[in-house]
Amino acid sequence: MNAIDYQKAHKEQFLSELIELLKIPSVSADPKFKAEVRRAASYLTEKFKEAGVDHVELCETPGYPVVYAEKIIDPDLPTVLVYGHYDVQPADPYELWDSPPFEPVIKDERIYARGACDDKGQMYMHIKAFESMMKTNSLPCNAKFMIEGEEEVGSDNLEGFIKANKEKLTADVILISDTSILSNEHPSITVGLRGLSYLQVEVTGPNRDLHSGTYGGAVANPINVLTRLLADVLDEDGRITIPGFYDDVEELSSELRSKMAEAPFDLDTYKSDLDIEEVKGEKGYNTRERTGIRPTFDINGIWGGYTGEGAKTVLPSKAYAKISSRLVPNQSSEKITALIKEHLEQKAPKSVKVEVLPHHGGTPAVTSTETDGYRAASQAFEKVWGKQPIPTREGGSIPIVALFKEELGIDTILMGFGLDMDAIHSPNESYGLFNFYKGIETISAFYEFFTQRSQNNN
Ligand code: BES
Ligand code: MN
Ligand code: MN
Repeated sequence: MNAIDYQKAHKEQFLSELIELLKIPSVSADPKFKAEVRRAASYLTEKFKEAGVDHVELCETPGYPVVYAEKIIDPDLPTVLVYGHYDVQPADPYELWDSPPFEPVIKDERIYARGACDDKGQMYMHIKAFESMMKTNSLPCNAKFMIEGEEEVGSDNLEGFIKANKEKLTADVILISDTSILSNEHPSITVGLRGLSYLQVEVTGPNRDLHSGTYGGAVANPINVLTRLLADVLDEDGRITIPGFYDDVEELSSELRSKMAEAPFDLDTYKSDLDIEEVKGEKGYNTRERTGIRPTFDINGIWGGYTGEGAKTVLPSKAYAKISSRLVPNQSSEKITALIKEHLEQKAPKSVKVEVLPHHGGTPAVTSTETDGYRAASQAFEKVWGKQPIPTREGGSIPIVALFKEELGIDTILMGFGLDMDAIHSPNESYGLFNFYKGIETISAFYEFFTQRSQNNN
């Protein structure tokens, strides 16, 4: 039996194991789920053993453990290092889910659950691709796996883990499935990800909440100040007004921009999918460019004062906002975080105090199409999907990609299989079974082509 036949024969088993994984609410952001996050890690440990690794361990970090596993068949053969994450985003608001987020259901050939696509579904494909090669004696090279539990909260402990385990993590290529393809008709390989600066803003006015009649009009209202302050960051043309913000932004040549525009994109479908009349963004750039190659400044949450039932006439003492700024090559997350902090604090009127607290960040990443890894991934898509994949830049962030290059000197291949319709981070997240099974096949084809290419070069 070959690996593909094994995959066909074990479809039900693969899916029921994924369902078990999806039932574990491994929400890294919320300490309430601490035991569950760890349970997801131990579940994977078992599955790695069953799949046939030589060695698997739970590597403790100051936060959640990294699941590390490996199968070394011959030190002279190339090594693929797979990265993924077993933690998921919070499922809130629960009431917007058609079925509970941690009780997976299958409907119309899709599996619905938090993490179905991001990243449990996509990460699990790797374990099953590996298993199918192991059980059919067809693993062509060495395999290492590093599955973390803190991706959705900024991977704070990963830099330390990588620095402490450089020897263990030596590899020829890093393979990640945690991104999307354009569509099932137009497969693609992600070659760019944005970076991130994430911050929280706190505005403090009077020392206590006040009667909005007694004091209103005479004392600065922190929410009014905050909304003005943040609104002023974007001008009429959708440009960020913070001085120096664009200084390091790489401007793409018109050749590269027209190349990007060749990828299929239908604005009407995009708008109708989101139920919006118009798109909105930086003047002079189209929608794909706005998410692929331009930086942003977005309020992710804003609160303060009274938000309960009915009315309460109050002038709040404090107002808060969470901000995410997506970054592009060659912006530095530290530099932009400092710029935003300085700008907002310095723009604050004397009537209030403004404090900006930096959260996590991430460096943007661009990967080359001129590597054995990219070519092998491209061949794998061609073989399994019957089409040459299109290189694309995506707007999301996976900070580890830049870190892998910096610390280990290894290139990453972003071979994701998600679709926009999967609604990652949203209620009713789902993943197509077609993509799950096709992805497993594509991953095993990657191993084959990558090994061939590496050996031809030797
Ligand atoms: N898998 C996503 C990133 C992603 C999504 C890349 C879609 C490309 C397309 C990842 O799990 C994620 O959500 N990353 C965070 C980064 C963060 C918490 C540092 C993000 O992009 O917000
Ligand atoms: Mn992810
Ligand atoms: Mn995510």
